Amino acid sequence: MCGIVGYIGSREAYPILIKGLKRLEYRGYDSAGVAMLQDGNITLIKEKGKVSDLEGLASSSNKSGSLGIGHTRWATHGPPNQVNAHPHASQSGDIVLIHNGIIENYATIKSVLTSKGYIFRSDTDTEVLVMLIEEIQKNEKCDIAKAVRLALNEVTGAYAIAVFSKKEPDVLIGARKGSPLILGIGEKEFFLASDASPVIEYTKKVVYINDEEMVVLQRNGEFELKTIQNERKTPYIQELELKLEAIEKGGYEHFMLKEIHEQPKSIYDSVRGRVDIENGKIKLGGLEEYENRIMNSRRIIIVACGTSWHAGLLAEYMIEDLARANVEVEYASEFRYRNPVIDKEDIIIAISQSGETADTLAAIEMAKKQGCLILGICNVVGSSIPRASDAGCYTHAGPEIGVASTKAFTSQVSVLFLVALWIAENKGTLSKSRIQEYLTELELIPSKIETILSETESQIKAIAKEYKDASNFLYLGRGYNFPAALEGALKLKEISYIHAEGYPAAEMKHGPIALIDDEMPVVFLVNNSSAHEKTISNVQEVAARKGQVIAIANKGDKVIAGMAKHVIEIPETEDALSPILASIPLQLLSYYIAIERGCNVDQPRNLAKSVTVE
Ligand code: F6R
Repeated sequence: MCGIVGYIGSREAYPILIKGLKRLEYRGYDSAGVAMLQDGNITLIKEKGKVSDLEGLASSSNKSGSLGIGHTRWATHGPPNQVNAHPHASQSGDIVLIHNGIIENYATIKSVLTSKGYIFRSDTDTEVLVMLIEEIQKNEKCDIAKAVRLALNEVTGAYAIAVFSKKEPDVLIGARKGSPLILGIGEKEFFLASDASPVIEYTKKVVYINDEEMVVLQRNGEFELKTIQNERKTPYIQELELKLEAIEKGGYEHFMLKEIHEQPKSIYDSVRGRVDIENGKIKLGGLEEYENRIMNSRRIIIVACGTSWHAGLLAEYMIEDLARANVEVEYASEFRYRNPVIDKEDIIIAISQSGETADTLAAIEMAKKQGCLILGICNVVGSSIPRASDAGCYTHAGPEIGVASTKAFTSQVSVLFLVALWIAENKGTLSKSRIQEYLTELELIPSKIETILSETESQIKAIAKEYKDASNFLYLGRGYNFPAALEGALKLKEISYIHAEGYPAAEMKHGPIALIDDEMPVVFLVNNSSAHEKTISNVQEVAARKGQVIAIANKGDKVIAGMAKHVIEIPETEDALSPILASIPLQLLSYYIAIERGCNVDQPRNLAKSVTVE
């Protein structure tokens, strides 16, 4: 939540900040703001709404300055208005600060500062921090770096911050705890950002700042990395692998559509190098070191949120079905607070696209304390969850920018399928030839997705037009198709704001069937599996009540063709892999319905891509 960007060097900061904020807008778009320093004066411009609104407001202002910070906000404390937008200035106006995270003890600090005469203009926790820095600097008569460091020792909670003072025009400071922060190192210039996207076109040299670390960046090209306890650290400078094309729309109208179409490649990239069909082997280098412990564990507990939780549910089905290992799936937010019985016999698999989700991270920390082995399945390289894990696998889906997760989900499922097969291979629950069959089929998935994209997109556009005004949708499936149904419903509600429920198809008669009338679209996932006949019976129950059946079925399924109003055909595959194929039409359906309704697909209301608050 919230994107931050900072610059110090010899270029104009404003264009760098605005471009960076546009790339970070997936993290929040309630308000945006920038502050630049020029000739001892700070220009502070902020606006409610998106970065484009900020640009409009800034068009007639002087925006000069080669030191600056910028912020795009996902509101936590206080409504999304101009006053609460970042940057926030100190009482004197000398210091400005941007912040991603939550200062939990802000109320206590605020009341102390208020009693000392500080007047707060906003409802934010961030303003408290900038005032505290000013108060400390006044008392200690120290430089801004020391004041920031001392202030950070007084706050609890999470933060990634960038801050500067007009009294020290050649210094920019960044710090983090719990929220991501990257330092980009150029030729006598530095960049700070929540992720690598604002930095990539200027430099490939980056340092991932760790928790409780801060950087003091000087305009002359010198910098210092230290802990907030004032211990100097040696920066580990890494080379970014990210390519600029990967974070641009590449001719598509929306990132979401681009990412839906990227799935043949993202799945190929996720699987590449991990599969040895000839020998029926799976190579997951990240897990090998812990092979014994994983194979001898009592239980695998999967923790995740949202779409990643749906991938986790599929992983439970796959690992239990193929590898006969004991799996539980938990919402990270529930798991961490419900005092679960766990110990060193248990393995935690944390699934996260961003690698920054606060609840998932906190669940990991809690399980670590109980001695569990932590495996991370994440997409963003260098993010907090992989760094907090003992081992794991990256999903290699490439940057996912659309707020609704698409390609990250199918890559997660592909990698988790490999994890299931790897455990099966090690435990001997599947024969070599069966593993070879599964791997062969996995390798065919990218081309099958290409077929679905080319054969169904125009049909789905027409279906979207027909149902764009529906107020509710049901998504039903059995077995492996149940988690896929949940994911289909989530996609629709998050980007089109239509209420949608996913259910196990057989559960429908225990309640949701009461909702069915001739206006209710019901999306059935009916692939050729052992559950086909049973699911068909459920389709009949809906059709008998005049529900509008939209079926995702295998090519040539004559039975469903006679019952459903629309049949979207997908190729056949292994049961365990069918959710990947079924997800493609579900993603397209939600995308085109949202477009028909005029919704902002890439930036749905109230959402943010990276949920770094509890
Ligand atoms: C839905 C979506 C969210 C995320 C959830 C977890 O499309 O994107 O439900 O899946 O916020 O995020 P990660 O995977 O980054 O931990």
